[in-house]
Amino acid sequence: MRFFVNIDHVATVREARKTDEPDPVRAAVLAELAGVDGITVHLREDRRHIQDRDVHLLAETIRTPLNLELAVVDAIVDIACDLRPHQATIVPESRQEITTEGGLDLSTPQAVERVRPVVERLQGHGVRTSLFIDPDPGALEASAALGVDAVELHTGEYAHARGAAAGRQVERLQAAAGQGRELGLAVHAGHGLTYENVTPVAAIEPIEELNIGHSVVSRAVLVGMEAAVREMAALLRRARGGPS
Ligand code: PXP
Repeated sequence: MRFFVNIDHVATVREARKTDEPDPVRAAVLAELAGVDGITVHLREDRRHIQDRDVHLLAETIRTPLNLELAVVDAIVDIACDLRPHQATIVPESRQEITTEGGLDLSTPQAVERVRPVVERLQGHGVRTSLFIDPDPGALEASAALGVDAVELHTGEYAHARGAAAGRQVERLQAAAGQGRELGLAVHAGHGLTYENVTPVAAIEPIEELNIGHSVVSRAVLVGMEAAVREMAALLRRARGGPS
């Protein structure tokens, strides 16, 4: 199982002040030192968190694979083709949403034809290409027919489900992961996974890569709070000639 950490929300904190900290590039390097297998960022059309500078610096700096999430938007696809990250994951995007709300719509021939040229352009530039889809048989078949390398199963419905409904969502993910493997697709998963709910998904054997973001960044804030306060308190003491 490969663990890719999504660092979008490090950039969210930075953009709250439009300043230069915390830097997602530094966060990526620290995540690598901690043993992560790859770094994921979503360059949204509205640039609400990750900026063009971030993806360029990440591509130059990190040693693990970069997974760039992108929507079917020409200007963003141009950046991806120029940058040639290790992997691109095509996701749906709407300006109103707080976060990606569901998998790509592949339910009609028109919807599939919207995605096809992006897949062809990315693969033509040597980029491993994945589609973020709901764990449904039709979406998996459409993905395989498009010739992508991988699919990322949307785990958001599982993350929101409780009790028996969560159990049914695990079965749905299991079935989709098995179908993906049979179709020759690499199977990834992600969205809404937390320290509390990740275990049943991580146990689904055909899933080879998990993308986890918000929960890891949230935990980083809490586990880092004590050290950060100690550092600032020591600076304040030293400013008045006290012990550090
Ligand atoms: N996978 C995809 C395709 C996403 O769009 C996101 C959110 O940007 C994630 C995984 C990570 O989701 P979360 O931040 O809830 O862990």
